[in-house]
Amino acid sequence: MSTDTKRPAMVNASSGMLVKRLWSQYLQQHLGKISISVLCMIIVALGAGVQARLIEPALDKVLVSGDIQMVWLLPIVFFLTSVIRGLGSYGQTVLMHKVGLRIIATLQSQMFSRVVTADLAFVHNDATGKLISRFTNDVNFLREAVIKVVTGVGRDLLMVLVLVSVMFYTDAVLAIMTFIIFPLSIIPITLIGRRLRRISSETQVEFGIMTAALDDVFKGIRQVKAYGMENSEQARADSLFERIYKLIYKSARIRSLSYPIMESLSGLAIASVLCYGGYQVLNNETTVGRLMAFLTALVMAYQPLRSLSNLNASLQEGLAAAERVFSLIDYNPRIVDAPSATSLHVTQGTVCLEKVSFSYDVSIPALSNISLDAPKGATVALVGPSGAGKSTILNLLLRFYEAGSGSIRIDGQDIRGVTMESLRNAIALVSQETGLFNATVRENIMYGHLNIKEEDLIAAATDAAAHDFIMALPDGYDTMVGEQGLRLSGGQRQRLSIARAMLKNAPILLLDEATSSLDTKSEQFIQKALERLTSGRTTLVIAHRLSTIVNADVIYVLDKGKIVEQGDHQTLIKQNGLYKRLCELQFGDDAHQTQAHQIQNATPANV
Ligand SMILES: Nc1ncnc2c1ncn2[C@@H]1O[C@H](COP(=O)(O)OP(=O)(O)OP(=O)(O)O)[C@@H](O)[C@H]1O
Ligand SMILES: [Mg+2]
Repeated sequence: MSTDTKRPAMVNASSGMLVKRLWSQYLQQHLGKISISVLCMIIVALGAGVQARLIEPALDKVLVSGDIQMVWLLPIVFFLTSVIRGLGSYGQTVLMHKVGLRIIATLQSQMFSRVVTADLAFVHNDATGKLISRFTNDVNFLREAVIKVVTGVGRDLLMVLVLVSVMFYTDAVLAIMTFIIFPLSIIPITLIGRRLRRISSETQVEFGIMTAALDDVFKGIRQVKAYGMENSEQARADSLFERIYKLIYKSARIRSLSYPIMESLSGLAIASVLCYGGYQVLNNETTVGRLMAFLTALVMAYQPLRSLSNLNASLQEGLAAAERVFSLIDYNPRIVDAPSATSLHVTQGTVCLEKVSFSYDVSIPALSNISLDAPKGATVALVGPSGAGKSTILNLLLRFYEAGSGSIRIDGQDIRGVTMESLRNAIALVSQETGLFNATVRENIMYGHLNIKEEDLIAAATDAAAHDFIMALPDGYDTMVGEQGLRLSGGQRQRLSIARAMLKNAPILLLDEATSSLDTKSEQFIQKALERLTSGRTTLVIAHRLSTIVNADVIYVLDKGKIVEQGDHQTLIKQNGLYKRLCELQFGDDAHQTQAHQIQNATPANV
């Protein structure tokens, strides 16, 4: 398992731009819900102001003057205000969550659409876990931030404003005194926010790496055990957990700094109020009720003020996440339909490569100057040592990658001039990896053909020599095959892939034969299935089986990205070159003894 410790440099888009984009593309469309939610917040905030103001008459009129009417009136008003505040609070929370969660779903859908339409190179560039982490961690940070910011601005800020007004209304001198102290807190809180954003970016990157590592180990658990790597994987995972622990702990520690700062400052404010106000009460310059109303407002303002002081931290975390989410959403695939692209019109199914060169990395060419012809209905075999560039040719034909120079034509039409959809419709691919999904046998075979009739499904499975083994599975066609088909044997997986290609019934077939050798019986089944699959189709097959190779109409031998020999089996053996050596290596003496016509006439019983 590879250790992916690459950590991308943090990019820093301006916060203003990110907020603007979030607003115009995601929040604005929920303006109605946000407005109602803000209205609820206003109610909550005003309710708080009313309750603070009620303290003065409660103390002065009821307790001091003994006004009997106020004794039952005030509690009723207080209770009703509480109920209204509660309802407002409920409405606000529910609506904001609705908006926040909807935005998550939208972002997830947009990111997914980017990933599935992206160039293969882009998807393979990053570990899967890192991509997945954007769909889970990042969007959650973003939702938290959106909810907290809107609630913060809508409710907490309003609450502070209302309560401050109450304080000024109650006692202006005390209010001025208090508010000389609070602005002092802004400076440390801004500094804290900035550091938090940086740590949060790092944390999210680490989360991505962790998801990728877990995914890797769990998928390869067989190898982990077989090679006795449990302890080493444990150590590697522990070091990842440790890094995340440290980052989150650091973030919590820094975030907690805002509490003591706010706590001390509010303590100072309350102490000053108690001192100055107490002195005034003693001098009969104010009433106990008024001082208590002021203090209540001050204490009630403390909670929203504290939330506001944390707001910047959440905002910065959300912005860091937004940056990463947007960087995915903004990705533009390079391989796209040309503006003038037409639909591929297949008449014969001839495939022709002319002087095609290509490289994955600029430095090393994977294919140089490849010219190759596959006439209608012919089977063309590609043979060559590992890494010669055989799979690469198939990648280019499907336009998973774009040829650097030269041209690839199907029935005379350059594949760059036709739509990707029509191109891929005309080609069935059975690849080196089986490509099964964690779904039922039926769903796997029907992949891409959802409305197929049951008898066609069974016919395809029968032709692929898969029907009998499928019927023997516990739930027949409804058996779940497990992740990547892991609950099936290698040969069974291959036959499902063949059945899928059968069902597609495309005029051109690309076949990357699996290298794993199977027992003779499975081999016979697959051989028969492949014969049925290739008949009547133009087939490019990367052949590892002697039987496929000798049956091919023409064989191209590749080495280091170049075609070094071509011809049929007999001709190539006589040439005494790379092909002969490969055959000897792979098939031993069989290669010499086997006469092409024997294999051509072979039946499963005597192969
Ligand atoms: N996605 C990729 N990114 C970068 N290089 C790649 C990629 N895929 C293949 N290569 C390189 O291109 C060369 C040709 O690879 P290719 O997969 O075509 O070989 P192959 O002939 O199919 O080999 P095999 O028989 O082992 O499947 C190799 O050197 C390989 O390292
Ligand atoms: Mg290959």
